[in-house]
Amino acid sequence: MDFQKIKEASQFIESKLTVKPELALVLGSGLGVLAEEIENPTIISYQEIPYFPESTVSGHKGQLVIGTLEGKTVLAMQGRFHFYEGYTMQQVTFPMRVMKQLGIQSLIVTNAAGGINETFNPGDLMIITDHINNMGTSPLIGPNDDRLGARFPDMSQGYDKAYIQHALQCAEELNLSVQTGVYVGNTGPAYETPAEVRMLRTLGGDAVGMSTVPEVIVASHGNMRVLGISCISNMAAGILDQPLTHDEVMETTDMVKQNFLQFVKKIISSLPMNR
Ligand code: HPA
Repeated sequence: MDFQKIKEASQFIESKLTVKPELALVLGSGLGVLAEEIENPTIISYQEIPYFPESTVSGHKGQLVIGTLEGKTVLAMQGRFHFYEGYTMQQVTFPMRVMKQLGIQSLIVTNAAGGINETFNPGDLMIITDHINNMGTSPLIGPNDDRLGARFPDMSQGYDKAYIQHALQCAEELNLSVQTGVYVGNTGPAYETPAEVRMLRTLGGDAVGMSTVPEVIVASHGNMRVLGISCISNMAAGILDQPLTHDEVMETTDMVKQNFLQFVKKIISSLPMNR
């Protein structure tokens, strides 16, 4: 990844800001509403930012919203880039490089995902404890720039343990029942077959989606602390006797919006910011 491009993009963003963001948020399908709660927002469309790709999926807006949320200065991505859209892994994860360059050390990633674990229900929120990269590639393939991270980064702490504990504590204080589990990243864009869902369950997956894994790999490469939250928007293929649609995904995320907002805001308000 071209260091010069990362610097140009981050300098452009800095030129629009009078504040220094300390926490980044990636808002997944149907979860962009959180950005609407950001106070004194500066909005920067992805199109304006040098070297940023443009987002194409419905339910994804394609802009950065920077401002104050629960007393923290946040930079939110309202809409993200997916590998299935045809972007390279480096494009998909370019924003995480820019976040790091901006001095941001903590990241909350959210997504909509299909439930593999049969004890889950649509509408559940799942704190991601770990992931399985089932995309068959990695954003770190290619020459390593040591300024960005190590050649062989450790992934045993990809999802910050203290952040997981903090999120569980917040859920308890809100009386919100949440799941924990392993997120499997698939490329998509087709949803899984029932046989694939059984395979992923055997492999240890609890939820499956088409994002997050590349982003968390790059955030780890940059030594950022990550918290991941999945909204279980549907049961994965073959579990219930019904076809999957993107509309169902959007409907469920819309339904749990209030829980999601309340939960993430509570997490942010007291999130530990330094290692
Ligand atoms: N599979 C993959 N990605 C998804 C799903 C699913 O069932 N639901 C939402 N994103």
